[in-house]
Parts: sequence; structure tokens; C-alpha cells
Amino acid sequence: MKSTNATPRIFNFSSGPAVLPLPVLEAAQRDLVALPGVGMSVMEISHRSPTFIDILDEAVAGVRELTGLGPDYAVLALQGGASLQFSMVPMNLLTGGRTADYVDTGTWSRRGIEEARRVGAVHVAASTADDDYARIPSQAELRLTAGSAYTHITSNNTIEGTQWPGIPEVGDSPLVVDASSDILSEPLDFSRFGLIYAGAQKNLGPAGVTLVIVREDLMERAPDHLPRMLDYRTHARANSLYNTPNTFGIYVLGLTVKWLRSLGGLEAVAAANRKKANILYAEIDRTGFYRGTADRGSRSRMNVTFRIGAGDAALERTFAGEAAAAGLSGLEGHRSVGGLRAGLYNAFPEAGVDALVQFMREFERRRG
Ligand SMILES: Cc1ncc(COP(=O)(O)O)c(C=O)c1O
Repeated sequence: MKSTNATPRIFNFSSGPAVLPLPVLEAAQRDLVALPGVGMSVMEISHRSPTFIDILDEAVAGVRELTGLGPDYAVLALQGGASLQFSMVPMNLLTGGRTADYVDTGTWSRRGIEEARRVGAVHVAASTADDDYARIPSQAELRLTAGSAYTHITSNNTIEGTQWPGIPEVGDSPLVVDASSDILSEPLDFSRFGLIYAGAQKNLGPAGVTLVIVREDLMERAPDHLPRMLDYRTHARANSLYNTPNTFGIYVLGLTVKWLRSLGGLEAVAAANRKKANILYAEIDRTGFYRGTADRGSRSRMNVTFRIGAGDAALERTFAGEAAAAGLSGLEGHRSVGGLRAGLYNAFPEAGVDALVQFMREFERRRG
């Protein structure tokens, strides 16, 4: 991959923080010292300056355009990562003595459940823990609570390499989605969601900014005693400028959203993502030397998890080490599950998938 730096870029398969679009990095680099027409770095200007407010408004408008969100949704750029949303969601929405339904599809779902239990009543509507989280539950498996406060799912399970094949039907319950690892990777009917949140560091920009899309009416459920910083209404009323936001993170998020639009929107992005994932899964399935860990119907297009044989940890370490030496970085699986994992987020180039496939074939020839 070409870049304007002296150090050539390698293929970065990390599952987060993750690869950013090269044109975004180049624009940020070009304008880092002095924004055109401003003469100061974006990191040096007031978050209340007209320049920064324009940057923020443009980023939000870009998200609205890509998602087709209606005016009944607020788009917030917060801090604290998806992990803070594990707490803010129940603090704001799990009120009125109701129960929240959670679908347990992996490590991050469990974290969400643990935090929600500190706030109120939680019902696990389905769990695939007994299947090592290798799959997403079917619609028929969901045991939903009548009148629940909301239903929470993790749309893409970054560690386990599974992704919901479609948006589940949850009746009148507002659907709350942790979309940290597949946000803006495909077109969806966003009007079906009550709230969506995502740490930016996989598909949207650098770490330190968290995108929250929330339906206006749901925000009104929050109890009045909530600390202001933890109340969505505070941030919605202040256009995400209640306190000093992550100005640089929002700037790069804006550049990334602009880049997604330049590709032709989420249809085009999804087609490219499908193609990349299909190429890699085809190689994994080709001979049996490699083995995908997720059930076929639940496979993630964002995080492709696989093992060598039945799970030869030593050989997998060798694979990841040799791949890194060949310019294919970050292929180790999450430390909690081992194996191998390729992050194929929006910004990851198809050429990197081709390079990985070539490396896999060559490795199999030598070690198979
Ligand atoms: C699906 C999902 N949810 C939540 C998190 C936690 O995000 P953060 O580190 O932004 O708190 C991650 C991080 O990898 C994730 O992949």
C-alpha cells in the first residue's frame, strides 16, 4: 500500500483500534498543523469555535445521510467507549420497574448484561454460551419479555466472529444495539432501532469517540437524578458540546464518514465488505487445513475467526508470527479465545485479503 510517509504501510488486520482509510489519514496529516483557512491545528481550536461546530455538524449530517435517519433521532458523539454505554443504556432506559431483555452472544454481550444488572432487572432472552458462542440464536429461540424496557443485542461479536444475519423481530420493545464492530458497514433500516452505539475505533475513526444514535422519545425515560454527564438529554440538548468533546476524534470521524459517502454510500460499502469476507471464507473452507470457528449462517463479515486444524495453538502462533513478518499484522485471535482472527473493517483493502490468502496457501503447503 502506498502512503506519503517514508515508512511503507503494511496490512493491518487488528480488530480494534483498526485500519483507517488512507485518504483519511492523508487528509488529517496534510491539515494537521494548520487547517486550511484557519491557520491552527484542529487540536488547538476551541470546541465552541464556528470552525469546530461546522466540523461536528458535518460529521453528524454525514451519519444522518448514510443511515437515512429521521429527525426523531439524536446523533451524539460521546466519550467513555462502548463500555460506558453498557452503563448509560440501562441508567437512561431501564426505568419504571421494567425488565430489559438481553441476548447473550459473546464476551461483549456478557459485559453489557453484567452492567445492566447493576442498574435493574435483566432477562437473558437467549444465549449461545453452550455452543461456545459459535452462532447467533434464531428468531424462534428468543424468549422476549412482554412490555420490556428494551431488547439489547450485539450486532457483531468482535471476539467470536459472529454477526446477526438480520435484525431480529422484537415487537414493541425498543431495539438497542451495540454495533461497535459493524457500524456503517451495510445499509440497515435504522428506523427499527431505539438506540445504537459504537466505539469509533473499528469502523469510524480513532479511539476516544463513541457514536450514539438514540430515538428522541426514549431519552425522556431517564430519571431526573442521573448525573448530568450520564444523561443522554444533556448531550442531545448541547449538540454533544456540553463539555469538551474529543475534537480530534470527531474530526477524523467526519473525514471517515465523508470517505464512506465518496464510495457510494452503505450499499457500495457492504458489497465491498461481502466480497472481502467471501474471498477469505472460501480459502478457509478450501481444504480443511483451516477451520472457521463460527457457524456458516452466523459468520461475521467484519471479524473472520479461524483455527488451524482442531486448534493447534503452537502452529497458530507460528502462523501469526510469520504473517506479521510478511507484512500481515494483527492476525492473532483475542487473548480470551486464541486462534486466528482477521479484522476486515470498511477501511481494510481487498488487496490485503488477497495477500492473506496467498500467505495461507503458502503456509499450508509448507506445514500441511
Ligand atoms: C462489540 C464490542 N462492544 C464493546 C466493546 C468495548 O468497547 P470500548 O473499548 O470502546 O469500551 C468492544 C471492543 O472491542 C466491542 O468489540
